[in-house]
Amino acid sequence: MRLEELKRRFSEFTQERRDELALRSARIGDFLYDLVIQNGLLNVLEIGTCRGRNSAFLTAACEETGGHFWGMDIGPGDCDSVERVMKQLGLTNFTQICNPSLPHMSVIMSENNINLAFIDGEHSFKSTYSEYCIAKDLINKENGIILFHDVDYIHCDSKEDKGIPETVRRSGATILQVNDDKVAYLLYGTAIIPEQWIK
Ligand SMILES: C[S@@+](CC[C@H](N)C(=O)[O-])C[C@H]1O[C@@H](n2cnc3c(N)ncnc32)[C@H](O)[C@@H]1O
Repeated sequence: MRLEELKRRFSEFTQERRDELALRSARIGDFLYDLVIQNGLLNVLEIGTCRGRNSAFLTAACEETGGHFWGMDIGPGDCDSVERVMKQLGLTNFTQICNPSLPHMSVIMSENNINLAFIDGEHSFKSTYSEYCIAKDLINKENGIILFHDVDYIHCDSKEDKGIPETVRRSGATILQVNDDKVAYLLYGTAIIPEQWIK
């Protein structure tokens, strides 16, 4: 689905629903969309979909490339929300997994030749580093991207173990400013950050 069409369909949601979707959501949908399109990514995994706002940008982009989106979240309300958002937008090329575990992630990554692993679930070092280790081994090495969100602060759920900034430091990921937000990325093979996002 084209980006303009996705935004048009989102604009038909009630204001209340739009507000609800934006809650806890990064304002990086356009960036994620471009990343998939400009790299021609086919298989995308998001760990921590929340209510599915950015999942919709990724899935719509995958529809354009002929790809598929896998989402994971532990919140039953979040998983239901993703299903509803996709249905309302008319997107079908997705699989949402509720209550995932690291073994689920390994299976999805190994069976589906994942090109983008967007790590945005629990914010502890322990979780994100474990997810990163799986992603690093299994990501498509010819055209792959590992992406982290919430990279420059220690979330309240991870005060004990230095959180995502420690995973970013140990993985050697590069921090990128995206609008008023920040992500960190690792690129494999031919994958690039689209030029318009590099300052
Ligand atoms: C910051 S939100 C994600 C925002 C979303 N990626 C976006 O860009 O809009 C974090 C989400 O991670 C989920 N989460 C927490 N622990 C998780 C885990 N172990 N596996 C998968 N999801 C998890 C939470 O339920 C929450 O919905």
